[in-house]
Amino acid sequence: MIDMNKNRKIHMLSAAGLLAAGSLLTGCASSEPTLASAYEDHGILIGVALNRTITMQDPNVEADNTDRTMEEVLMDTALAKKEFNQIVNENDLKWVLVQPNPGPEGYNWEPADAFVQFGLDNDMYICGHTLVWHSQVPNWLFQADPYAKPEQNAQAQQGPWGGMRGPVEPLATREQLLERLRDHIHAVVGRYKGKVKVWDVVNEALADGGNDVLRQTYWTRIIGDDFIVKAFEYAHEADPDAILRYNDYSLENPAKRERLKKLVKMIRDAGVPIHAIGTQTHLNADITFETMDETFTDLATLGLPIHITELDVNVAMGGRRSTSANLEDNAALTSGGLVSEADQQLADAYENLFRAILKHKENVTMVTFWGINDDVSWRRNGSPLLFDAQDQKKQPAYDTVINIGLQGE
Ligand code: XIL
Repeated sequence: MIDMNKNRKIHMLSAAGLLAAGSLLTGCASSEPTLASAYEDHGILIGVALNRTITMQDPNVEADNTDRTMEEVLMDTALAKKEFNQIVNENDLKWVLVQPNPGPEGYNWEPADAFVQFGLDNDMYICGHTLVWHSQVPNWLFQADPYAKPEQNAQAQQGPWGGMRGPVEPLATREQLLERLRDHIHAVVGRYKGKVKVWDVVNEALADGGNDVLRQTYWTRIIGDDFIVKAFEYAHEADPDAILRYNDYSLENPAKRERLKKLVKMIRDAGVPIHAIGTQTHLNADITFETMDETFTDLATLGLPIHITELDVNVAMGGRRSTSANLEDNAALTSGGLVSEADQQLADAYENLFRAILKHKENVTMVTFWGINDDVSWRRNGSPLLFDAQDQKKQPAYDTVINIGLQGE
C-alpha cells in the first residue's frame, strides 16, 4: 500500500527544502542534486535517449520529432550533460540508419560515431539500441538479391503483412540472412567494442497476443525462431565483455512476461549468454505502484539485472496538452502554487514508478528516459517527460523523482 501522507509530503517539499534535503544527504551545501546524483548512491544509472541534433551539434540534421534551433540544441546538450550519466541512441544504431545499403560499403557511420564520441567525451555509460528488430530495417536485408529494386516486382510492394511496402521477392535464404546478421553484428559491435557497454541485441520479438511466443516477422519467416539465439551468439563473439540485453514493451502485462520467460529459457537452453532484461516502460498516467512492484518482482525471478530502457509517461488529458489556458479549469492548490491536473497525474505516475524502482533497487540498475524533453519526444502529445520544450523542470514531477532518490524508499 502507498502511504498517502508520505506522498503528500514529497509533493509539498519546496525547492528550498529540496536543496536542504540534498545537501544534508550529500554533506555539500552548494551542489544542487540532479537526476543522476539523486540515484547514484542507490547504484542506479539515470540515462537519456539522444537524437543526432545533440550528438552532432546541428539543428539541421534529419532526425524525427525535432525542430530545434541551435540555441535550443545547445540548451538540450547542456541539460543532457547535467542531469544524466548514461545515454542510448534514439535511432542512429538501428539497422536502416547504420547500414542502409548492402555490404561493407553500405554503412553510414557518421551519426553513430558522433553518438558514441559524445558519451566518451562526457564520461557517460553508453548503451546501443538495437541490433535486431522488425522495424526500421532496410528491405534489401530480406531479399535474395539485396540490390533488387521494388519496381522490378510491383506485387512485392504490398508486402505479406498489413499491406506494408516490403522487400522484393524472392526472399533471402536462411543462410543468406544469417550471414548478413553475423556480418552486421560483427561490424557494429566490433567497431564500438569496449565503448558501448550494453547492447539491445533483440528488440520487441515477443507476440502481443495469441498462443505464439514470438511475433511473426521476416526474421521468424526466413530464419526461424532461433534468429534470437543466433543474434546473441554473434554479439557475444564480437564483444565478449558487452552486456547483452533483450528489450521489449508491455512487460507490465503478465501474459507478455510469461512469453519473455519462455524466450529467456530458449536462449539459455542454447547455451548462449543473456545478461540483462530491458523493459521499455512506455507507461500511461494511470500506472500504479502495485503494477510496477509486481512487474519487477516477477522479472527479477529471471535472475538478471533489469534495465528500464525507454521510460516515458503518456498523460492524455482527452487529447489536450496541458497549457496555462486550461490550468484554472482543473487546478489543484499545492504549496508551490497552481498545478494542472495533467502535471499532477504525471507526478503521481512517476512517483508510483520510482518508489517501485527503489524497492527493487537490487535488481533495477538503470533507468533511461526516452528523450531529453517533451518537444523531441516520440509521444510529444502526451507531454511524457520531466522537462518541457524550454528544458524547464516540470513540477511537481521532477522534484518528486529527485526526492524519492534523496530520501530513499
Ligand atoms: C522510436 C523513436 O523514438 C522515433 O524517433 C522513431 O521514429 C521510431 O522509433 N520502441 C523502441 C524504440 O524500441 O526504438 C522506438 O523509438 C520507440 C518504441
